[in-house]
Amino acid sequence: DHDVNFDTASFPPLTNDLYLRTARGEPTERAPVWCMRQAGRYLPEFRAIRVENEFFKVCRSPALATEVTVQPIRRYTGLLDAAIIFSDILVIPQAMGLDVQMVPGKGPHLPEPLRSPDDLSRLTDKQSGYSVDRELDYVYKAITNTRHALNGEVPLLGFVGAPWTLMAYMVEGGGSKTFALAKSWLFKHPEASHELLSRIADVAAEFLVGQIRAGAQAVQVFESWAGELGPQDFATFSLPYLARIATRVKATYPDVPMTVFAKGAHYALEQLAKDTLYDVISLDWTIDPAVARSRVDAAVQGRRKVVLQGNLDPTVLFGDEQTIRERTREMCRAFGPASHIANLGHGMMPSHDPELLRVFLESVHEASSALRK
Ligand code: CP3
Repeated sequence: DHDVNFDTASFPPLTNDLYLRTARGEPTERAPVWCMRQAGRYLPEFRAIRVENEFFKVCRSPALATEVTVQPIRRYTGLLDAAIIFSDILVIPQAMGLDVQMVPGKGPHLPEPLRSPDDLSRLTDKQSGYSVDRELDYVYKAITNTRHALNGEVPLLGFVGAPWTLMAYMVEGGGSKTFALAKSWLFKHPEASHELLSRIADVAAEFLVGQIRAGAQAVQVFESWAGELGPQDFATFSLPYLARIATRVKATYPDVPMTVFAKGAHYALEQLAKDTLYDVISLDWTIDPAVARSRVDAAVQGRRKVVLQGNLDPTVLFGDEQTIRERTREMCRAFGPASHIANLGHGMMPSHDPELLRVFLESVHEASSALRK
């Protein structure tokens, strides 16, 4: 590594704080916008780096992680309102002692997944002398260095995978259509499941605190497989751990905005709003933003502000420019003139055209400013 800066004592002053003001519930001149997976294979400049460097090598090299984090900020000058650190949710299973590989064209692969509760003894997090901060120090270094490289242009987001989603990968050994193995743990081995979820939650909370200490200005928790659970099992196996993570992080950093993305779990909107401390709830595209807004408002009854994030179907970006503009305008209108962070309902895909993402970003600027006039 050359040209890296790991000084956490002073960072360049932030010039665009639109994301942070909105996340704190303040009225703003327009909706901030960023995109899940905004650093990724749809960008030729990202693919150029990946040709030479294996996926987790990019995550583990602060200079490379910084470079790919900053790529979309550079390409879409003045259009993005946040950067998200380049890493992966699967760095936690790695930090708990499991081997995780990223197989090109196939996705994550864990050659030795947790097959039975006995396998919990293979996890390293309860070994004496174990330190989350030491295992994941490379992420902290990437964050600190990226804060300097961003030069205060936009805030930097940190993130973790949520316990149920990480448990699903650790038990399945990769992605899955039915999650039969991971879900069968919930019903065959409820106690071992709770132990595993709870250990992941502890690591995740400590990791988020470390990311904030290293320079992350807001954080997001990804429960990507929430929708595999029904309402009752979400309430039992996901929500308590999501809530615990927020409570822990807020105990140390009460003013750092936290977002939860429980994909597919819109049945749980009220609980997420009432029973957790997340400032922002991120929505996928399967719920009407106006419905989400009124359900969340009814749930909290003015006791606190809940900001919503989302939620354009990413496949709308396969449409033509006019369709993207129209759908983005309708989306902004449905969220209303405040407390909205614009995003897609899920991540960018490798086959997306970067110029059509630009159309989305420009449309958010136009449409959301117009709503506030
Ligand atoms: O730009 C960003 O959003 C920041 C970086 C980021 C990545 N993964 C980079 C990545 C973030 C925030 C993630 C989170 C992540 N990783 C999630 C939660 C969000 C979601 O999509 O629901 C999940 C489920 C994962 C696990 C994961 N990592 C999968 C399923 C895959 C394979 C996807 C695929 O299309 O192959 C990855 C790999 C991955 N993570 C890539 C990137 C840019 C692509 C892999 C590559 O470069 O070869």
